[in-house]
Amino acid sequence: MHKILVTGGLGFIGSHTVVELQNEGFEVFIIDDLSNSTIDVLDKITAITHKKPSFFNIDLKDKIAVTTFFNEHKIDGVIHFAASKAVGESVEKPLKYYENNIDSLIHVLQQMKVRKVNNFIFSSSCTVYGQADELPITENAPIKPAESPYGNTKQIGEEIIKDTTKISELKAIALRYFNPIGAHKSAKIGELPIGIPQNLIPYVTQTAVGIRKELSVFGSDYPTPDGTAIRDYIHVVDLAKAHIVAMQRLLKNNQKKSFEVFNIGTGKGNSVLEIIESFEKVTGKKLNYRLVDRREGDITAAYADTTYANKELGWKAKLSLDEALLSAWKWQKTLK
Ligand code: UFG
Repeated sequence: MHKILVTGGLGFIGSHTVVELQNEGFEVFIIDDLSNSTIDVLDKITAITHKKPSFFNIDLKDKIAVTTFFNEHKIDGVIHFAASKAVGESVEKPLKYYENNIDSLIHVLQQMKVRKVNNFIFSSSCTVYGQADELPITENAPIKPAESPYGNTKQIGEEIIKDTTKISELKAIALRYFNPIGAHKSAKIGELPIGIPQNLIPYVTQTAVGIRKELSVFGSDYPTPDGTAIRDYIHVVDLAKAHIVAMQRLLKNNQKKSFEVFNIGTGKGNSVLEIIESFEKVTGKKLNYRLVDRREGDITAAYADTTYANKELGWKAKLSLDEALLSAWKWQKTLK
């Protein structure tokens, strides 16, 4: 049984990935510092899979703690989610973001090198493409200057990993996520936004449940069919499964290069108004919303060309937008 370390394993994408890893028979070790997650997620994961993952409350900025962990546990592969991810906050606190996201990554890679743990998956983002010149976006689209320190940590992170693969045995895959949404079908785990949600779907569900008065639709004058911005919304369970096939690719030595990059999305773009319409249709709830000005830093449209992931990983998003929205709604109702 392969032993996989999942950093940030109690977070939104991390927790769903832990469930899928356990379902596939992997032994899971979670490191999480609970800075943006709660410990009860561990029990929820256990309730879904009937297997308790090993849990370590470690701050990855603590190099000694990371060293001790790797000294004490023989790991076969690492999936690295642990990172701060609020775009706006990263503009306010760039040094916090660079310290947290970059130091943590370096500490993990250093120990992997020492211990010859050679299989690494990095949680990257479509944010590295900025507003791409061509849609859908392939992995060959140029990297654009980052719009935020958060986005920059993803670009720098990829560079650090790539450079490390050149001088060591490390094999790595960066998965560039489009917009992850939804929740596990059990409604036991999902996204837990702290404070006012920045992302569309949690704002939609909190509005529908009455926590927020009204959803602001940021921008209705984009050059898109209905004037609102377009994104590729992918069900978090489909996204989680992409990590499993990527890890299997590394463990079987099937990768073509020591550092590979895959877009992980559905390949389909939806506008904000289409999201609202679909949400109202699947839930039967009327959503209170208002068209307002564009949000600074937002791009017009992004959706993935997933051909490469389909072909090379044998992975494809299977769950529909309606299923994703319904699962997000089911999850929201458990929170209030
Ligand atoms: N939106 C609204 N109202 C809201 C929130 C969002 O209209 O209250 C709109 C946004 O303007 C955007 C779309 O909904 O057009 C999606 O917004 P999200 O904040 O959910 O997602 P983003 O595409 O802005 O951000 C996502 C990830 C980030 C990542 C970024 C890269 O959440 O981590 O993609 O583009 F950096």
